[in-house]
Amino acid sequence: MKLNKTLLTLSLLSAANVANAGEVEVLHWWTAGGEAKSAAVLKEMLEEQNHTWKDFAVAGGGGESAMTVLKTRAVSGNPPSAAQIKGHDIQEWGGLGFLTSLDSTGQQEKWDDILPSVVTKVMKFDGEYVAVPVNVHRVNWIWANPEVLKKSGVELPTTLDEFFVAADKIKAAGYVPLAHGGQPWQDATVFEAVALDVLGSEDYNKAFVDLDMSVLSGDKMVEVFTKFKKIRDYIDSNSPGRDWNVATSMVINGEAAMQIMGDWAKGEFTAAGKVPGKDYICAPAPGTDGQFTFNIDSFAFFELSNKDNQKAQQDLARTILTKDFQEVFNLNKGSIPVRLDMDMSKFDQCALDSMATFKASAKSGDLVPSMAHGLSTTSYAQGAIYDVVTNFFNDDSADPKQAAQKLAKAVKAAI
Ligand code: GAL
Repeated sequence: MKLNKTLLTLSLLSAANVANAGEVEVLHWWTAGGEAKSAAVLKEMLEEQNHTWKDFAVAGGGGESAMTVLKTRAVSGNPPSAAQIKGHDIQEWGGLGFLTSLDSTGQQEKWDDILPSVVTKVMKFDGEYVAVPVNVHRVNWIWANPEVLKKSGVELPTTLDEFFVAADKIKAAGYVPLAHGGQPWQDATVFEAVALDVLGSEDYNKAFVDLDMSVLSGDKMVEVFTKFKKIRDYIDSNSPGRDWNVATSMVINGEAAMQIMGDWAKGEFTAAGKVPGKDYICAPAPGTDGQFTFNIDSFAFFELSNKDNQKAQQDLARTILTKDFQEVFNLNKGSIPVRLDMDMSKFDQCALDSMATFKASAKSGDLVPSMAHGLSTTSYAQGAIYDVVTNFFNDDSADPKQAAQKLAKAVKAAI
């Protein structure tokens, strides 16, 4: 009798839960190995709360295709519950009136206290939370296969000059020195790593945050393009169109020595069962030790009419900033947690280095937003930079001096 009563209570309770359960449709571009594993964690945690997860994955690193699809859906009046939207784009979507407030959840969960202010600023529109951050990616990394370096008789380069010397030897030994995918966002990722080194953090900010014309067209920018061009000599001829994770697998399987890529690449090494320090090396991109180009993934939340789906949406936002989610998601993704109050004991040396540099660079002025990943400026200015950079990289006869001038002109026209 007692047992029956308990069973009855339980089933009533779960019926109540199901009644409150909603659906979350989540748009993202996390389809590579490590990325997909990370997204799956969020799905599981939402399903544990009885909500339904409707996956809206649009393949394509860097998210260009995903953003195009999102615009079509939103304009036709049928946006998803949440979409992977970053940096300045959050303000743009907020300004168009598409986003919903997460402020009461944010206050209950004390987001202002657990997040760095450099992050909360980006997540709020008109003083209210409309987005939640998932992680902090460092973009200026180089990933290397130690076996290939050894067989080529070189050490991991720490400056661009060392890089060029090592790359010649690696090439002579029969390996691809730099694994790269010829896609605009990947070109921009390598370009900004070179720019960070050559310009330094202050002028990097002047160029890509302030859009300062004299830095964009200046002598140092000419040097950035000159060095960027030299990198082409160390990329294989199959690079055009190659996905970033395919490039990472070339380092993993020993076909290539190195890749310059953000730490989502670590997610691929992890998914392949590789151990940092043993099977692969992570280090700051040449010449950028102590500097940190940040890329913060976040989900922005759209205005919905269904009450259950609204509740599911707030639950999704809350879940993303729990310690449990932050830990397991970031272990898979290769990034570091965006909460600064986390126990980091399960994280590897690359993540610990990233966290230490994140904190130190915030004090030294060397923490800079990634242009290539939409954190430094509007999508219009970013698009203009992408075009100039990619056209330059794909043109054998392109001239660095002219490229710097084109860069300034294109940015001016976009703002
Ligand atoms: C970035 C994104 C990362 C990673 C990468 C490749 O823009 O912030 O999370 O997924 O694209 O897809």
